[in-house]
Amino acid sequence: MGFFKRLKKESGGVTTPPLRHIAFIMDGNGRWAKKRGLPREFGHSEGAKAFIRVVEYCIDLDIKLVTVYAFSTENWKRPQSEVDGIMKLFVEYLEDGLTNKRKKNMRVRFLGDKSRFSPEIQALMDEVVEKTAHFPYDLNIAINYGGRDDIVQAVNTLIKEGKTEVTEEDISNALYTHHQPDPDLIVRTGGEWRLSNFLTWQSTYSELYFTKKLWPDMKEKDVDEAVEFFKSRKRRFGDVKEERKAK
Ligand code: FPP
Repeated sequence: MGFFKRLKKESGGVTTPPLRHIAFIMDGNGRWAKKRGLPREFGHSEGAKAFIRVVEYCIDLDIKLVTVYAFSTENWKRPQSEVDGIMKLFVEYLEDGLTNKRKKNMRVRFLGDKSRFSPEIQALMDEVVEKTAHFPYDLNIAINYGGRDDIVQAVNTLIKEGKTEVTEEDISNALYTHHQPDPDLIVRTGGEWRLSNFLTWQSTYSELYFTKKLWPDMKEKDVDEAVEFFKSRKRRFGDVKEERKAK
């Protein structure tokens, strides 16, 4: 019996949970370049192509919300030339969207602390958020993002609002992802089995899919495999009965 069939059987039969939110940890750009004797920056530029390929394919699959982990609060520790290279790719991606250079566009939001970016980049980010607001498919770009930082800023927002006691709902609604569904599926490429400070609060019930594939090699069929894996899971959200709908 094939891997996915076995998973489906083990999880108790046929289930097709809704996949409304898929999130990607785009790992392995550096190793992709190293394997070819190229500088790490080449890996990131191929990674940017894979990013466009994958998010556009998610539109084809009718997945309403995609989140990508583009840059963590820890990634600033990398050599300045590498950080500059990633920021250049980020700016190119934003500018291409504004000049209608892409076939498919999405409603972009940013998760993370924007204040670390230059005023020019911040203005560009604001413009992209405003000008893409009418597109039907959503894209979250987590940039200067940390899961713990997300929770801390949410709690500080609530304190500033005068709250002295908070509920889970209060925190959920103060996170960068406020009012969005939690990720149903988190995909990590690059062979590491950890979440690395990504969507810490939001990932509590996410299905996790890890692949050794390096991010620049991520193709449509690899997304299909991750989605098949997701469909084979039975989601109980802590319950013992039949799967019930996510909140
Ligand atoms: C992780 O791979 C990747 C990053 C830290 C950067 C991700 C950036 C992109 C995919 C391109 C730019 C993004 C946008 C939104 C256009 P790694 O460098 O840690 O790989 P390694 O583990 O093999 O060293």
